[in-house]
Amino acid sequence: MSKSERRHVPVLSQQVLEYLAVRPGGTYLDCTLGLAGHASQVARQLGAKGRLIGLDRDPEALKLAGERLEALGSELGEAMPQVTLVGEAFSRVSEFVEAGTMDGLLADFGVSSMQLDQPERGFSFQADGPLDMRQDTRQSVTAEQVVNEMDERDLANLIYEYGEERRSWRIARAIVRARPIATTGQLARVVAGCVPTIKGERIHPATRTFQALRIHVNRELDEIGRLLEAAPKLLRPGGRIVVISFHSLEDRIAKDAMKAGVAQGFWTLLTRKPVVAREEEILENPRARSAKLRAAEMNSREQEKVVQAREKSRRGRDAGGQSRDRRSWEIR
Ligand SMILES: C[S@@+](CC[C@H](N)C(=O)[O-])C[C@H]1O[C@@H](n2cnc3c(N)ncnc32)[C@H](O)[C@@H]1O
Repeated sequence: MSKSERRHVPVLSQQVLEYLAVRPGGTYLDCTLGLAGHASQVARQLGAKGRLIGLDRDPEALKLAGERLEALGSELGEAMPQVTLVGEAFSRVSEFVEAGTMDGLLADFGVSSMQLDQPERGFSFQADGPLDMRQDTRQSVTAEQVVNEMDERDLANLIYEYGEERRSWRIARAIVRARPIATTGQLARVVAGCVPTIKGERIHPATRTFQALRIHVNRELDEIGRLLEAAPKLLRPGGRIVVISFHSLEDRIAKDAMKAGVAQGFWTLLTRKPVVAREEEILENPRARSAKLRAAEMNSREQEKVVQAREKSRRGRDAGGQSRDRRSWEIR
């Protein structure tokens, strides 16, 4: 058993259970199984009549999650829910899940500790490994291709946009000059060598560049957008969605999707502000520091209609207000 498997603690686990409010006998979807940390906790509450569907596009994560859930099955015996595992991207979730049947959906975005801890997966600059960064190891594009083949301007834009890195031009130029770059260690040294450490900054100078490459290689933001678009169709009334993001780009998509769902009458927000980890959890699991949880509950068709009618009349009032304003302006 690897280091990450032994000490795997799912992030915000108490809060995930609180907001999912697992209904024994219900059907729950974990879109990011990872090491099945959250999924195991949900399974414990579901009982024999419940059903758990788990997705992960990383074949190794899916295998490990399957083993962990099997071990849980031996422990729980008759009380273990039915489990279905799917090794696909969550953007395709509608192909595997029947519309309107889910009582809850969980997505804990980003990389797992297992992926970070294995140098051969190429996600981390802490240990040297090939520049891979693919979650789905069946896909062909790797970080090595991007780093060595992308045009300098596109690379700079990518590091700026997905890494929120202001020094992206300087980094892109240094990368292009240092080509070919084959390992995570080499890339981290090239980045660190071209940008001075910012005073007071706690993160490694290459952190943002690695984040940008990972997001690009795995099309992470597009995946999240498509999952959140599909989610309202999958849940039954009263069903809940819980999402955990780890950086502002992910959280912005979650926040906007939830806001849009509220305006359209699909959701009632359960978290006005994102829920964050308590100090004790951050001390035990530093990764929890950047976690933000947002949750919403699916409205019934009747509630949806009420919100839509209210929204329509608000828009009518706003339009009336605008034309009154315009008239008074014309008089003056
Ligand atoms: C942060 S980990 C999840 C950890 C998990 N909640 C646990 O308790 O063990 C994220 C997992 O989601 C998977 N993942 C990320 N994006 C995905 C996507 N678009 N489709 C399917 N799986 C994805 C990753 O491969 C990774 O294993």
